[in-house]
Amino acid sequence: MRDICGSRKEARIDMKKVLIFGAAGRVGSRAVQGFLEGGWEVSSCVRGEVDLADGDAVERRVAEDSAEAVVNCAAISSLEACVDDPLAAHLVNAVAPAMMARACAREGKRFIHLSTDYVLDGRRPGLKGEDAGCKPVCVYGESKREGELQVLEEYPDAVVVRVSWVCGHPGKPGFAEAVARKALAGEPLTAVADKFSLPTDVDDVVRILLAMCERQVDGGVWHVCSSGEPMSWYGYASVVLEVLAEMGFPEGKSVIVEQKLDEMLSFRDTRPRHTAMGNERLLQLGIRMPDAREAIRHAVLRYVHSRS
Ligand SMILES: NC(=O)c1ccc[n+]([C@@H]2O[C@H](COP(=O)([O-])OP(=O)(O)OC[C@H]3O[C@@H](n4cnc5c(N)ncnc54)[C@H](OP(=O)(O)O)[C@@H]3O)[C@@H](O)[C@H]2O)c1
Repeated sequence: MRDICGSRKEARIDMKKVLIFGAAGRVGSRAVQGFLEGGWEVSSCVRGEVDLADGDAVERRVAEDSAEAVVNCAAISSLEACVDDPLAAHLVNAVAPAMMARACAREGKRFIHLSTDYVLDGRRPGLKGEDAGCKPVCVYGESKREGELQVLEEYPDAVVVRVSWVCGHPGKPGFAEAVARKALAGEPLTAVADKFSLPTDVDDVVRILLAMCERQVDGGVWHVCSSGEPMSWYGYASVVLEVLAEMGFPEGKSVIVEQKLDEMLSFRDTRPRHTAMGNERLLQLGIRMPDAREAIRHAVLRYVHSRS
C-alpha cells in the first residue's frame, strides 16, 4: 500500500500498541491480524470483556490500557437489531464511541472510529464527499451519525472512517461471499437493482487503518471505500458471477433475478438508496483506493480458496 501521507512527509509517530474494540467482528478480526502483521502489539477487546452498553466500563478500559492508539470496530451493525433495540443502538453506536473519544483525548491517544455510508440520506445518485450533508433514514444510521458527532465533539482530532459494503472475510461472509456460496450450491439468486453503493475489501480498509495509526493524519471524517462507479446489489452479484466464470465455474453463468428495494419484506427499516462515497481526503494525499470490481474479485478468490 502507498504511504498514507503521499508526498506530505510528516513525522512518524512512534506508537506500536493498539487497542481494538469489536475484535471479533468482520472488520475488527481482520484489523487484529493486519496490525499484528504490521508489527504492532494488539490488545483485543471483545464483548465478553467489556459490554459497550456500559459507557463507564468503556472509558475505564481505554484509560487503563497502555496502547497509544485505539480503533473502534465495534457496533450494532444489523439494521433490524437497531430497530428492535434503539436504546442498545444508541448506547453501543453513539455513547460508547463518545466515551472512547473522551478517554483518548484525555490520555493523548490516537482514536479511529468506524462509521458508515448509511449516515447519508441517499436521495441523490452520484458519489458523496466527506462534506456531504447527513440525514440518516434508519435507526442504525441515526445512531451511527450521533456517534460521529459525539466522537468529534469529545475529540476533534479523532478520525472517523466511513466504510461501505465490506466484503472479503471468508469467515464472516458479506454479500460477495453469500452470492458465491449460493451460486456454487445451485441455489436461486436474487438481488436488489435499485440501491447503490461501493463494495469494499476489508483488507483495503485495514491497510488504511494501519497507515492512519502509523502516520499523523488530520481529524474529522474520512471516506474509505473502493473507487469506481456506484453499483447496485444486482450489479455487485453480476461481478461475483463474472469472477466465478473467469475461474472456470459453470455456475458463473447462473441467472440473477432482479428485485426492487421496496419488495424486500425482510427489511424492517428503511435503506438509503444512493450512498456511494468519494474518497476525496485520501485522494488529496495521493491515495487511490482499488476499484470496486477488484475488491469483489479478491473477495471471491479468497472465498473460493478458503473452501478448498
Ligand atoms: N460490514 C459492513 O459492510 C459495514 C458497512 C458500513 C459500515 N460498517 C461499520 O464498520 C464497523 C465494523 O463493522 P463489522 O461489519 O465488522 O461489524 P460486525 O461484524 O457486526 O462486528 C461488530 C462487533 O461489535 C461487537 N459488539 C456489538 N455490540 C457489542 C456490545 N454491546 N459490547 C461489546 N461488543 C459489541 C460485536 O460483538 P459480537 O461478535 O459479540 O456480537 C462484533 O464483534 C462498524 O462500525 C459498522 O457500523 C460496516
